[in-house]
Amino acid sequence: AGRKFFVGGNWKMNGNKSEIQSIVNSLNAAPLNDQTDIVVSPPAVYLEYTRGIISPKIRTAGQNSYKVAKGAFTGDVSPQMLIDVGADWVILGHSERRNLFGENDQLIAEKTAFALESGLGVIACIGEKLEEREAGRTEEVVFQQLAAIAAKVSSWDKVVVAYEPVWAIGTGKTATPQQAQEVHAQLRNWLKEKVSESVASSTRIIYGGSVTGGTCKELANEADIDGFLVGGASLKPEFIDIINARS
Ligand code: G3H
Repeated sequence: AGRKFFVGGNWKMNGNKSEIQSIVNSLNAAPLNDQTDIVVSPPAVYLEYTRGIISPKIRTAGQNSYKVAKGAFTGDVSPQMLIDVGADWVILGHSERRNLFGENDQLIAEKTAFALESGLGVIACIGEKLEEREAGRTEEVVFQQLAAIAAKVSSWDKVVVAYEPVWAIGTGKTATPQQAQEVHAQLRNWLKEKVSESVASSTRIIYGGSVTGGTCKELANEADIDGFLVGGASLKPEFIDIINARS
């Protein structure tokens, strides 16, 4: 569809210098598809270390950032700080931030707007919980999450939407290609109706939730799946297969 494939590795709260060194060595040595945007997201304290050793072909992302540049916000980091240590992207609205740390749609939207204004690209995450899917509310939930973000976004060039059904994250239960494609198509249609035809056709919508070397190829064949946000498997050699899923 003319959208550049995008694969992000979200390391979450994992890794130390020695483990990162070994992940990076394997990525640096791998044949990487240059038709794919590749991003890794180490814990904030390791962003600069990772940037210093990883191939320039691979961009780095923060896992979170606050809605202002600096100040009395103990424990948080700003987009300016992420940029200062070489990051180009930030993941916002991840289900773990929403569900374990109580972040709501409003805060995520404000963080998204500020990160974009500051010059970062944003991987904006949305997704329904199992009980919401079972109650037939998937569309309603993801539309509401996307609407909150869209209300604060003026330029979509540097936004990647990550659809991550909560029931698929870290569970080994990858959504089927049909399940994922169905929601991706609904999201693209929402963008077409509520934002514009051109934003709908150019915005990457990536899938996350137990993506593995084994499940990535079939998912990558779906018309509206433009890449992946990978957790567990991004720490393993199979991340290379996922990067190259569409080659
Ligand atoms: O951000 C990544 C997602 O939470 C997916 O994690 O691949 O370990 O299921 P997972």
